[in-house]
Amino acid sequence: MAEQSSTARSDPHPSYQPHIVPEDDHELYDDDSDGASIESSTASLSSSIMNYRYGHYLDSKCAPASNLQADMNPMMNESKIGWTWYASLWLPAVIQAVSYCCQHHHIWSMITGGDLYRAPLPPGVSKILDLGTGTGSWAIDVAELPPNCKFEIDDFESPWNFTQPFDFVHVRNIEGSVKDYPRLFKQALANLEPGGWFEVADSTVGLFGDDDTIEKATSLSEWRDRLIEASGKFGKPMGVSHNYKQWMIDAGFENVTEELYKVPFSPWAKDRKLKELGRYQQAMMLEALEAYSLALFTRVLGWNVARIQLLLVGVRKELMDRSLHIYSRYYIVYGQKPKAS
Ligand SMILES: C[S@@+](CC[C@H](N)C(=O)[O-])C[C@H]1O[C@@H](n2cnc3c(N)ncnc32)[C@H](O)[C@@H]1O
Repeated sequence: MAEQSSTARSDPHPSYQPHIVPEDDHELYDDDSDGASIESSTASLSSSIMNYRYGHYLDSKCAPASNLQADMNPMMNESKIGWTWYASLWLPAVIQAVSYCCQHHHIWSMITGGDLYRAPLPPGVSKILDLGTGTGSWAIDVAELPPNCKFEIDDFESPWNFTQPFDFVHVRNIEGSVKDYPRLFKQALANLEPGGWFEVADSTVGLFGDDDTIEKATSLSEWRDRLIEASGKFGKPMGVSHNYKQWMIDAGFENVTEELYKVPFSPWAKDRKLKELGRYQQAMMLEALEAYSLALFTRVLGWNVARIQLLLVGVRKELMDRSLHIYSRYYIVYGQKPKAS
């Protein structure tokens, strides 16, 4: 199920987006962001997020949501779910996680030009459910006003007991959090009004490239392979976003649409927007690396921390190397519950 992939030859979506043109060699490091320490450049990127203006953000299509619900982060409530050890190892990294979640939210907003969703929701939509809401950034933004947004702590893989159907169910960044996607997608369908929409957005665990520089990213490739192996063994696989479209169709959704975006792992692209996206993706990855690796690699693969840190040294080096033209894939997939259901 997991995405294997890497080179342009094995790219299952060659027509989605043109190949990314790399920056000229002599201009690759022209800005001084790599001269700063990782900590200070991350801090400066984080503060610039606060002042960012996304294209048509203010024209958001969403009416104020009067009844938005968001499934809270079970890291705060370990006893609710069956992955206690997994959650508890993540807990010390909660502050760091909040930081990279904000960066991730920003990257998504840059990709969509500020749209909070891609599904063609009709005006007046107000009953929205955000699953696995994390810091709640998406839910709070879509609700527009805090009183419109209500947080609930629950396990989204347990049976849902909502008394009313929703107009829109949304979930983002859940690779590695779900045991049974087909069941989750069916629950989403069952809890929608006829004609309602379901949207899944994810940045898949994968490493992709349009030229052969990807072959030099050996540590990142190893990291990706081990992450996919460990998450699969754990039972909550990563690298699966390329299945979302089919799983949505299989669950019974109509008008299923998949959008795919390339996001460089560092500011190596010539295009200004892709260069900026690469800067944020690089900073987010550098912050997220340990949180993603420690629990899975020690508990599932039996690695010791020294071995993990050694691999991460190589991974960080490759993330800082702009001669590697590597990128991540961001998926947005949405589908509609049949109106006649
Ligand atoms: C990577 S974070 C993404 C947060 C948020 N959706 C976003 O895009 O910013 C994944 C979130 O899903 C939550 N999660 C994972 N498994 C869950 C479950 N079974 N039930 C409810 N939430 C879950 C995690 O605690 C975490 O908050």
